[in-house]
Amino acid sequence: MRRGKVLLPFTMPAMPGTVGELRNEIVGLDVRVPVLGGGERPYIFLDNAASTPSFLRVLRCLEAFMPWYSGVHRGTGFKSLLATEAFDAAHTMVGRFVGADPSYHTVIFVKNTTECVNKLANRMGFRPGDVVVTTLLEHHSNDLPWRRHAAVAHAAMLSDGRLDLADLRRLLAVHAGRVRVVAVAGATNITGLCPPVREIARWAHEAGALIVVDAAQLAAHRTISMGDPDDPSHIDFLALSAHKMYAPYGTGALIGPKAFFEAGDPDAVGGGVVEVVTRDRAFWNHPPQKEEAGSPNVTGGIAMAEAAAVLQAVGLEAIEEHEAGLLAYAFDRLTRIPGIRLYGPTRDLSDKVGVITFNLEGFHHSLVAAILGVEGAIGVRDGCFCAHPYVKELLGMTTEQDQAHETAVLSGDKSAMPGMVRASVGCYNTWDDIDALVEMLHRIVNREYRGTYLQERSSGAYRAEGFVPSFSPYFPYLDDFAVREKVHS
Ligand code: ALA
Repeated sequence: MRRGKVLLPFTMPAMPGTVGELRNEIVGLDVRVPVLGGGERPYIFLDNAASTPSFLRVLRCLEAFMPWYSGVHRGTGFKSLLATEAFDAAHTMVGRFVGADPSYHTVIFVKNTTECVNKLANRMGFRPGDVVVTTLLEHHSNDLPWRRHAAVAHAAMLSDGRLDLADLRRLLAVHAGRVRVVAVAGATNITGLCPPVREIARWAHEAGALIVVDAAQLAAHRTISMGDPDDPSHIDFLALSAHKMYAPYGTGALIGPKAFFEAGDPDAVGGGVVEVVTRDRAFWNHPPQKEEAGSPNVTGGIAMAEAAAVLQAVGLEAIEEHEAGLLAYAFDRLTRIPGIRLYGPTRDLSDKVGVITFNLEGFHHSLVAAILGVEGAIGVRDGCFCAHPYVKELLGMTTEQDQAHETAVLSGDKSAMPGMVRASVGCYNTWDDIDALVEMLHRIVNREYRGTYLQERSSGAYRAEGFVPSFSPYFPYLDDFAVREKVHS
């Protein structure tokens, strides 16, 4: 009888050992994309703060795993046993990546950082009068979930975009005795600034609060450690997204004390979270299963663990050094562009990961982003990046301007949407990538771009006239989806 495609004997690719080797690890690094006026150019990816590409080793790991794929923790067959072992080991690996203590911490796989914070906010058991101290620098995912359950106080921003630590301490004093949680970004997705989380953790603990660190923008760039639970500067909860650490397969991880999740009811209920259910009662399983309701994303968990292994093999210190060099080079070149306004500090970049936000005088941010994409084949992002309060503060918007903007957006007009352009580097980007960005920005300020761009009122986005690329030649599976649509119509 003919067997399915046998992938074994399987040779594992070598683990990269240096930052230079990571460039060979990037899936899609060599693709070319269509540009305005015809032809193709190599794509330059400078949108790593939104989502990173996949490491090749992670993709290979999944190819090796998929023949063995099966549901976990339930089946009795060999595949289920193997998948269970791999999925459990993936939890352990992700814990090790952040210095978790397996006897004290649990690693819960979720969808992403947003789900981590929502889960925590749901599970915190807030009481009336409880306060969450967070900061103006946060992504909405480390702000809005808290607002649903408690009063939220936002620590202010200093004029250079850094967190006002004195204001944070002031808020802890003002709300003394009522602060349950201090929630802070490990690195912001707007300026890349890294607040001193260990110091903040100490203040949070002195105030009797728990500290939650949103490490989505930090995990692929700096070493993180939960710390010894007996050390006042330890981190209580850490939230990560695998899609920002070279494993975009649908998983994030929440790391926190086992005892916290042993207590109380799980956030979501259903399969997998129970030991035993009667007609009127349910007895919960232990974490992490207690908090991973339904069939979990086994593939995503394994991918995340492998990405963590690659990052660890190369070393976050080496990655930090490489990215710091890129950032310094970028700022040196960008600051010389006439009419550029860079947000956040432009000198002393030591407490900053490779996120660069800017505007060009006289150009809408969406226009700049469109030209970079359509003519330069450079992938960036623009807008407010799901951190509206911080962006507006950096832009120096007045309350009146903010209200006018709100009215316009709610009436369906985003043409004057405030925002910035963001270029963000990862471990594999090069000086050439920065040069390409700087060269295109010079062309824009010199009005040497070739297209005519029209703005769409409803989205605020600019489109180049005559640029209507077909995506199917690049991703032929799109045609399959189109066929299915027809069948069902
Ligand atoms: N949080 C991601 C970003 O900042 C999506 O772009």
